[in-house]
Amino acid sequence: MSSPRYIRHHDLLLPSEAHDAQSLEYAQNFSVEDTDVFAVTYPKSGTIWMQEILPLVLNDGDLTPIHTIPNWDRVPWLEEKRLAFVVDQLKSPRALVTHFPYHIMPPSFHTSKAKVIYVIRNPKDVMVSSYHFHQMAGFLEDPGTFDEFMEKFLEGRVMFGKWTDHVKSWRHTALQDRIMFIAYEEMVEDLPAALRRISEFLGTKLSEKTIQKIAEHCSFKSMKANKMSNFSLIPKQYMDHDKSPFLRKGIAEDWKNCFSSEQLARFTSVICKEMEGESLSLPWSLA
Ligand code: A3P
Repeated sequence: MSSPRYIRHHDLLLPSEAHDAQSLEYAQNFSVEDTDVFAVTYPKSGTIWMQEILPLVLNDGDLTPIHTIPNWDRVPWLEEKRLAFVVDQLKSPRALVTHFPYHIMPPSFHTSKAKVIYVIRNPKDVMVSSYHFHQMAGFLEDPGTFDEFMEKFLEGRVMFGKWTDHVKSWRHTALQDRIMFIAYEEMVEDLPAALRRISEFLGTKLSEKTIQKIAEHCSFKSMKANKMSNFSLIPKQYMDHDKSPFLRKGIAEDWKNCFSSEQLARFTSVICKEMEGESLSLPWSLA
């Protein structure tokens, strides 16, 4: 059921605080450029991490954007209201983020040569992160208990629908070498290695010194201290960091602290069934 906190778009729930009919029409008519780079994520998979990484990788480690522009304007969401206000300030090559599934990307995206970096995170950790985010984000529905939220998550009654649908939509595309998949956990494990992969994919030649510098500035600790990235500029009524900070833990496998054995069994059986036949090569297993 849709509520005033969400609007419906192609059967998906989107928070009305950041999206409206106009922003969605703007996204649909958006003129994607061949040099654009999209970081695509299901919410809570590392979106703001990529908003930190991309401007640095695309601009030889120049720190100015991450120190002067809030992340939502620096690397805006394709579908959100802010894009129309900041689009003219974006420098080429532009970096954008989106939570859209593949099939609702704008027509100009499909005919362009724009590149995509899809960040995939263990859905158990996505759900845990999302549960805490729903507690701190005043513009989202109260998540209820962990059990209740898990059911909503599994049924896709949360923003941007089911995790499984999102992942599957981006795994079966006509994008070929225009898309690269990277796991959140790979970035946690070895950020410099992840940055080398990203830089190679984007064709930006970075020295090892620059890679190390970017890794340092994109660490969880640095981002948590960066007011342009930690959402501390957002009024408390929208994001209450006392309830749960946006940059909460930044680790892999926090799910082990949160699921009961019954919850784990239910979660994995639903997710595994829906992902049957998908051969994912990832640093974690769905089961
Ligand atoms: P946790 O809630 O598990 O800590 P999104 O940006 O898609 O909303 O994802 C938010 C999640 O990414 C949060 O996870 C946040 O802490 C994590 N994150 C953001 N920047 C990070 C970084 N530099 N290192 C590790 N995790 C990061």
